[in-house]
Amino acid sequence: MDVDSLRQCLAEADQSHVLQFWDELSESQCSHLLEELQGMDFLELNVFFRKAMDAFSVSSAQEKVDARMEAVPREVLGSATRDREHLKDWETEGFTQIAHGKVAVLLLAGGQGTRLGVSYPKGMCDVGLPSSKSLFQIQAERIIKLQRLAKEQHGKDCIIPWYIMTSGRTMESTRAFFQKHHYFGLKEENVVLFQQGMLPAMSFEGKLLMEEKGKLCMAPDGNGGLYRALGAHGVLKDMEQRGIDYIHVYCVDNILVKVADPVFIGFCVNKEADCGAKVVEKMNPTEPVGVVCRVDGVYQVVEYSEITLATAQKRSADGRLLYNAGNIANHFFTRRFLQQVVEVHEPQLQHHVAVKKIPHVDTKGLIVHPEKPNGIKMEKFVFDIFQFAKKFVVFEVLREVEFSPLKNADSQNGKDNPSTARHALMSLHHCWVLNAGGHFVDENGTRIPAIPLHPRQENGTAQDHMQNNMQDVGDLPIHCEISPLVSYAGEGLEPYVQDQEFHSPLIIDGNGVHQSVKNGISF
Ligand code: UD1
Repeated sequence: MDVDSLRQCLAEADQSHVLQFWDELSESQCSHLLEELQGMDFLELNVFFRKAMDAFSVSSAQEKVDARMEAVPREVLGSATRDREHLKDWETEGFTQIAHGKVAVLLLAGGQGTRLGVSYPKGMCDVGLPSSKSLFQIQAERIIKLQRLAKEQHGKDCIIPWYIMTSGRTMESTRAFFQKHHYFGLKEENVVLFQQGMLPAMSFEGKLLMEEKGKLCMAPDGNGGLYRALGAHGVLKDMEQRGIDYIHVYCVDNILVKVADPVFIGFCVNKEADCGAKVVEKMNPTEPVGVVCRVDGVYQVVEYSEITLATAQKRSADGRLLYNAGNIANHFFTRRFLQQVVEVHEPQLQHHVAVKKIPHVDTKGLIVHPEKPNGIKMEKFVFDIFQFAKKFVVFEVLREVEFSPLKNADSQNGKDNPSTARHALMSLHHCWVLNAGGHFVDENGTRIPAIPLHPRQENGTAQDHMQNNMQDVGDLPIHCEISPLVSYAGEGLEPYVQDQEFHSPLIIDGNGVHQSVKNGISF
């Protein structure tokens, strides 16, 4: 499209100001701007804006959503603690599906990590573990380990393809990071990177905001941009060709994420669900997690920004929060369901509005850094498709075992930062060692107490074992890191630790145990 046609399209959409500084731009700025605007449908953007703002003004009267909310009913809920007798069966089912090549994982990694304040994709973060592994590496190694476990159980090689959604902000650095690290031992052809769309920020009057005279303010279109991207980049076709039936979708920032968790997959498959969500019990009314619930009888997540404090504080008769199904952004979808979403429902998904202070160029060409919110960014959310599920299930897991997100920088506050993520992983691994019969001793050689709450169960799942010791370790400063290549969920550690005493730090990786035991012998 040449600049005159573009001018006309912009005029029709009442967005002519976008080319206001055209004559002042250099040749390369002109061509960048032209390129940026080429694929945009300005009338469609205006419709997105109007619909999003209409929905936003309705939802701003929040009591309306609150009054329509219902907690998740018991019949759709599975639990890693209350349904212990079924866990082994679900795990077996999950491993069977993995071994038959039916399971893929899909990572949402297009976010900008604004709160964390890093200039690179969050998955590249090293939270300060002894191994210095990045979140990407930890996830990659969990995939490798699961493939090996499935092979051991079923006697055949299998692949869990890893689809990674990036955005214009994260694509290049993510790709370069994976290349530099040789895909962390995975085959490049089984790591599929694709890019979500971007949307321009708009003023409250619906005008496109300019970051520079020749550049729009663009932002990724939310993690629900997944559904448009799945269709646009032929990702579902790729899944179909590989014979994938089930997809575990998750967010990049949870250091404890059980990628392709066989128990969760098995639970969803066993319940014949087309859509599922993992949750942890929300403990505190102001915790920044969405809650899985029903609104007008339809499943959805009400985000932490969308719920009133009064509703968030409501408690059931047992004293727990009424809306306690805290979304940990781990979702299960069948490929068939995703296909339907992409083909039929995606256009019906409403953009959510994020009101922001957006630096921009004003009509005089000056850069303005607003002190008050001046516009919106529009985003779709990954869980907005729950409403279309025919069979929706929820699986509740232990926070200590599965959820410790990295959202903030260490300097910002004491929550969800590199220190809490590191500590959560090391506490979990400490428990694994205890459950496998290992012990920790202090500098005097005295055993650090850890009294199992229940006797260990033979043939139990890792989850069973976990609960035996989870409450015992509290905040003990044990430094313990076990490579995912050694253990996915605490299994198989006995040969390394049983009946042995360790000082902190203890590191167990593919090359063995690194540290000195009580009597000074080094492994
Ligand atoms: C998200 C969930 C929230 C949940 C919380 C748990 C959504 C919309 N909200 O909130 O319900 O309780 O995690 O930690 O899922 N991303 C993209 N593209 C984008 C924006 C984000 O891929 O355009 C990815 C991010 O890279 C990240 C994930 O989506 O992996 C979550 O994004 P983030 O903004 O951190 O969500 P939260 O607000 O923390």
